Amino acid sequence: MTRNNTREDWWKQAVVYQVYPRSFYDTNGDGLGDIKGVTARMDYLRELGVDAIWLSPFYPSPLVDGGYDVADYRDVDPRLGTLEDFDEMAAAAHAAGIKVVVDIVPNHTSTEHEWFKAALAAGPGSPERDRYVFRRGRGEHGELPPNGWRSTFGGPGWEPVGDGDWYLHLFAVEQADLNWKNPEVREDFKKTLRFWSDRGADGFRIDVAHALAKDLESRPLDEWPDDPDQDHPGAENPLWDRPEVHEIYRAWRQVFNEYEPARFAVGEAWVVPEHQWRYASTDELGQVFNFELAKANWMADEMRRAIEEGLDSAERSGSTTTWVLSNHDVVRHATRYGLPQVKSAAHHQLANDWLLRGGRSYHEDRELGARRARAALLMELGLPGSVYLYQGEELGLFEVADIPWDALEDPQAVMTAHGDAIKGRDGCRVPLPWEAEKDDFGFSAPATHAPAHLPQPAWFAAYAVDAEEADEHSMLHYYRRALKLRAELLTATGDTSLTWTDGYGDQVIAYRRPTADGRALTCVTNFGPVPVGLPAGEVLLASAELSSDGKLPTDATAWVIR
Ligand code: NOJ
Ligand code: CA
Repeated sequence: MTRNNTREDWWKQAVVYQVYPRSFYDTNGDGLGDIKGVTARMDYLRELGVDAIWLSPFYPSPLVDGGYDVADYRDVDPRLGTLEDFDEMAAAAHAAGIKVVVDIVPNHTSTEHEWFKAALAAGPGSPERDRYVFRRGRGEHGELPPNGWRSTFGGPGWEPVGDGDWYLHLFAVEQADLNWKNPEVREDFKKTLRFWSDRGADGFRIDVAHALAKDLESRPLDEWPDDPDQDHPGAENPLWDRPEVHEIYRAWRQVFNEYEPARFAVGEAWVVPEHQWRYASTDELGQVFNFELAKANWMADEMRRAIEEGLDSAERSGSTTTWVLSNHDVVRHATRYGLPQVKSAAHHQLANDWLLRGGRSYHEDRELGARRARAALLMELGLPGSVYLYQGEELGLFEVADIPWDALEDPQAVMTAHGDAIKGRDGCRVPLPWEAEKDDFGFSAPATHAPAHLPQPAWFAAYAVDAEEADEHSMLHYYRRALKLRAELLTATGDTSLTWTDGYGDQVIAYRRPTADGRALTCVTNFGPVPVGLPAGEVLLASAELSSDGKLPTDATAWVIR
């Protein structure tokens, strides 16, 4: 099989599997997944057929925000292993033909980072404080915050340090925002990019890529609105998606291009679709997450718009786009699609509201959710560009809605617990089930082990890897088949063209792609209640059984080749 992976621009059409290391596989029995756990499961990943793995942060961290509070960017959290473990993992991945993408968190450091400790010790006006966003408080003794900016996790965005200075944190109090106007900050991140590139990282995922450039100078701070809206970007927004952020990525591109093949990056930038392409352009990161699919309801018009926006952004960037249904920040899509799909309602708001009520406010129809998740996968995998899968979706895992409040780890939940709350993101971060019969579903290798760091529900047994291996109709086998076909027929060509196939009515999404063997693959997804006829050709794979007269039923996708 021609592996897409052997091309220099492999990342333009890759299937990237997101590993959330603390919840993937635990080799030493402390209840936390580790780097050796990724190495131990490399065969599983190879067999699944992914081109790359992206590891969420595994750096030393007090774990206030699942590792997105980094205390040292160039080391491994001792609870997760060592740099040597990383090297072994990267070597094992490369031997399996799998690329490695690591997470860079440049907007903020942990308050345990040595820079932050030095900033506190050095006092107001010091060069140490200038690496962060410190400002004097208002009021006679600086007892009031510099302005009313809020943290995206809830609560005020400024924290006093006791000497009249306050520091900005757009996320948790323990995540202090860096000052990207400071040259030392800029240089240090280049050093980090080189550090991991030299150790075998093939690419980077950039956390909150749209927040690095901030304007705290052009007007008095208290004249800015309290909650600058991420959806209204540009020079008029002091915090999000400012034009100067692109200078930073142009400088990073120089670093990426020092390597052979050039490294790539994918930016996490929750910006309006019209602005996505700039982050992805070839003189910047190369790719940016397109979250439109993840935001859409299971409805033909919303999905079609999401796809069109992604393709449009790819065309403007001169790169390719990305497709995402789930990640560690959103309610798992098998659950989302089993909840009511309310037109124009923020899909995630409804899902989060459902979570908050312990999964009781709406009925979660798992059969429907799983059926649609299967249909969504083929629709997604047929598209040109890269597909980012999130660990556990290949098992068809649902969100765990009933984690008790006192077991939650997510600062979103912790910061607002019990009051006007959101339950946060732990429901999609529960440790993976590997073996149905074991007490922790085989998450920890040793027989004697600490409990998994988040509690696993009893129903995980049915979704354990060994149970799914044994059932050829399982989600796991389905993912493997679909990924193999995609690699052979679609990505092997390098051709990213897509033609819409109209004439099926407004309840169907259908498109055609050229295949590596000179034929064409038509992907048809039926969102409506009435079965639809498929085009002539061979049905390679269908997400559900076709009707006796060969039609595609509701909530199903088929790949037809001719
Ligand atoms: C986005 C990450 O995906 C999320 O998990 C994290 O909480 C925030 N950035 C802050 O780093
Ligand atoms: Ca461990």
